Amino acid sequence: MTAPLVIAVDGPAAAGKGTLALRLARALDLPYLDTGLLYRATGRRMLDAGLDPTAPADDQARRVTLADLSRTDLRVPPVDRAASLVAAQPAVRRILVGIQRDFAARHGAVLDGRDIGTVIFPDARVKLFVTASLDARARRRWEQMATDPNAPDREEQIARVARELEDRDAADSSRAAAPLRAAPDAVHIETDSMSADEVLAEALRIVARMTR
Ligand code: DC
Repeated sequence: MTAPLVIAVDGPAAAGKGTLALRLARALDLPYLDTGLLYRATGRRMLDAGLDPTAPADDQARRVTLADLSRTDLRVPPVDRAASLVAAQPAVRRILVGIQRDFAARHGAVLDGRDIGTVIFPDARVKLFVTASLDARARRRWEQMATDPNAPDREEQIARVARELEDRDAADSSRAAAPLRAAPDAVHIETDSMSADEVLAEALRIVARMTR
């Protein structure tokens, strides 16, 4: 029997990994896990408990279940920061390994995150590393969040988003525990000048090549 198909999708914030991973999972009929939500749920639990996210977060990480991931209050700026802080704690990362490996154990999965191809599934059959320039990522993230697409201070808002992304990427890349890094055998997709459909088509070609 061949092992279930695991597809690792890693890359910096707002590069388009989530969109790609979800569409890949649908196209290939695989379960999908956004692993960033595990760190977000841990960060959220720290904030809800009135704890500083730099304090040891193992107890909160241990309580995270898949049901937590459908909370609607995980993508707000305080949780962006709290998630990045708890993600730097080696004990938290160790605790969250289990839930990620179990998720893919039976039927395989598409997982997106920062360390899927390097730490969680170093033997994944397909590893994609999705990137885009800081400017393209900031514009996309802003478009997702913007309340007024014609805001007069639009460019200032985009510049602010770019600074936040840059800070978070710097923290995620420079931490000692499982930093954001492409696996040596990952195939890179640079999405700046590609539509979501083109990114999916390219990823499906890579999957077909690597699973032949
Ligand atoms: O992908 P995201 O922005 O939702 O991730 C939230 C935070 O969690 C981000 O700062 C990086 C961290 N993270 C991680 O360290 N490892 C992962 N596999 C996924 C996310």
